[in-house]
Amino acid sequence: MKKITHGFSRLLSLSFALLALVALGGCDLNTKMSTFDVKGPIAETQLDLFMLTVWVTGFIFLVVGGVYVFAVIKFREKPNDNSPMPSQGHGNPLVEIGLIGASVLLLVIIAVPTLQAIWYTHDTPLNEQSKLGNWYTGDELSEDAEEEVLVIRVIGYQWWWEFEYPQLGINTANEMVIPAGKAVHLELRSVDVIHSFWLPRIAGKVDLIPGRANAMWIQAGDNFERWAEKTGADGSELALQAAYNTYLEEEIHDYYYGQCAEYCGDSHARMLFRATVVGDDEFAEWVKSEAEGHTAPEGKPWDEWYKAYDSNPDSLTGDLNEGAKVFMGRGKCIACHSVEGNPRALGVAGPNLTNVGERLSIAAGWLNHHDEEDVLQADKQYENFVKWIKETDVVKPGNLMWKSNGNGIGELLDPEDPDKIKLLTDEEIHYLALYLQSLK
Ligand code: CUA
Repeated sequence: MKKITHGFSRLLSLSFALLALVALGGCDLNTKMSTFDVKGPIAETQLDLFMLTVWVTGFIFLVVGGVYVFAVIKFREKPNDNSPMPSQGHGNPLVEIGLIGASVLLLVIIAVPTLQAIWYTHDTPLNEQSKLGNWYTGDELSEDAEEEVLVIRVIGYQWWWEFEYPQLGINTANEMVIPAGKAVHLELRSVDVIHSFWLPRIAGKVDLIPGRANAMWIQAGDNFERWAEKTGADGSELALQAAYNTYLEEEIHDYYYGQCAEYCGDSHARMLFRATVVGDDEFAEWVKSEAEGHTAPEGKPWDEWYKAYDSNPDSLTGDLNEGAKVFMGRGKCIACHSVEGNPRALGVAGPNLTNVGERLSIAAGWLNHHDEEDVLQADKQYENFVKWIKETDVVKPGNLMWKSNGNGIGELLDPEDPDKIKLLTDEEIHYLALYLQSLK
């Protein structure tokens, strides 16, 4: 019996070891969400600290494990060995004090850089290069804003993200745009439960807590000084600046993946976000386009469009007008969503939809419509909009758009018989998807 149990436990450990190997084989350190492929000083500091801890604990493991294995082999009982019990080292002051000293030393080796890193990642640096006034090329800023770094207010909702840029007067959702190489100060808040902001390759993680304003700073890529120090590049200032810009363009400008890192309900796993890192000019252009928003379909001013809509909606024809009519009317989208420019789309319960047709994902990063090169695929985008509107409860169980309409988006009153409920038809959803695609 004993033999059988022994054989079985060996088999069990062997299968566990094999399973662990297989699982490790699936680890790729160079993915979109890898904390090992870091971009920028915060994630880099966090990675350095992690590696230091790995080395110190690895060292402890090897020393303790080595002594243990050595003792087991060297002092094991041999057959026919009748020698007496060896002398015991209990209470040897030299050994005990030595071990305490070694432990303290190892803890100090970890503690000092840990404290340094906590301080470094806590206070947003106000260096000249990051001050808005020194790099922002868009419209004029207030005097205060010129002296500050870019501030983004990150607000967590079940289950999406709002990104507000108070100094620039714009507001977006689920895809933040940030400038490369500049410190950005984040104010973290929540309207419902605790969420956690985690942008693995750039920075992580800090919680968003209801009733409390947390803060952190992030920076995609090094600033000029840090880059120059690290690369040791030298030459004329002009050549250096050009080399630095090439570094930002080639290594930092990218589309980064983020994720809520604190369990927050049904669709926590589907509460993703994205960050697009761009150059200064592109950033200013994006801000401008966000602030301008959209006209009515076919470039019509909204007051003209609404005049027609209120008096004779049938006079508004064509795919986009049909879609806009569903957006304002049967779909009730404007009750929860804002679209910059549109004077009646002022809802605040859901994501701001300005330029939603430009984003590479919807439903808080859960439905992606880009290819591997992060280029938007219009067909995929159309499919995703249709899927999201039609099966919002399947895509994101428990979400507000589903709940607010009782049981599935589009469970709306029948215009011909208000006592009846009439779902959005496939045709209406088709036009709505086309209209949303056009918001860019
Ligand atoms: Cu928000 Cu998990």
